[in-house]
Amino acid sequence: ATETPYYFTDKPEADRRIKPRQKFSHKGTFGHAVLIAGSYGKMGAAVLSGKACLRAGVGLLTMHVPACGYEIMQISVPEAMTTVDEAEKHISKTPDLSSATAIGIGPGLGQDGATVKALEKVLEQAKVPVMIDADALNILSANRHLLYKLPANTILTPHPKEFQRLAGDSSNEYERLEKARAFAAKYKVIICLKGANTAVVLPNGEVHFNSTGNPGMATGGTGDVLTGIITSLLAQKYAPADAAILGVYQHGAAGDRAAEARGQTALIASDVVEHLGW
Ligand code: APR
Ligand code: MG
Repeated sequence: ATETPYYFTDKPEADRRIKPRQKFSHKGTFGHAVLIAGSYGKMGAAVLSGKACLRAGVGLLTMHVPACGYEIMQISVPEAMTTVDEAEKHISKTPDLSSATAIGIGPGLGQDGATVKALEKVLEQAKVPVMIDADALNILSANRHLLYKLPANTILTPHPKEFQRLAGDSSNEYERLEKARAFAAKYKVIICLKGANTAVVLPNGEVHFNSTGNPGMATGGTGDVLTGIITSLLAQKYAPADAAILGVYQHGAAGDRAAEARGQTALIASDVVEHLGW
């Protein structure tokens, strides 16, 4: 029989990957996520990813943000601990990662030179699973030696433009998918190619197409929500492939419930956060 690498994530497939909460569990059971996010004028990305991380079930969350984001985070996401960078408007240093069970980096980050250095240090120091999005992906594209520092099974969530910067032009969807499979195998990472029917591409060549989501989600900030969800699942010790596949599914499912509640046109990223839950 010919083996194809293609899979489809429907509800039973997603449900199969959920780990139910045990009666005698406590905060520590659900891990400690550290999200490194935000820059001056883009603190909303940090807020959205932080809220989504909490809604996806993490035990503890630390947000590491630029100094200008301190009050924004404490007021907008009171459930999170906030540590501030010594730089006012961007991330320039690695936070304390000693108690982290997963690290997410990228939403609203900007691409300051000091932030490039900080990302490099995070990759060198990380002893737990890592999730990379948005400007952290753009930094990798512009500083390609960093690609070789990605820990195995790091999750990358590029939208089409970010993937093009990472892997070059593709003339059609099939070629882009094959490029993603080659990239995932080469760097031993998981790539979530975002769009309608987001494709989760594993280092072993498997492609898991998602079944949830809608065009109402084509609005600023929904990608940051996905970063929070996946980081949350990694922190809860979901295997990286499960975190990516289940996270993408639940993100789309929340988007579908949000669209049902208020229509696709009015949908904003905060609505996706509000409709998370499984
Ligand atoms: N159908 C289903 N899902 C969709 C659709 C669609 N038609 N359009 C978008 N989505 C989903 C994608 O699958 C993805 O999960 O919405 C999300 C959009 O994520 P991004 O493209 O990363 O957008 P976002 O991050 O919210 O905003 C863009 O982030 O990546 C940076 O530089 C980028 O600053 C920009 C900002
Ligand atoms: Mg994005």
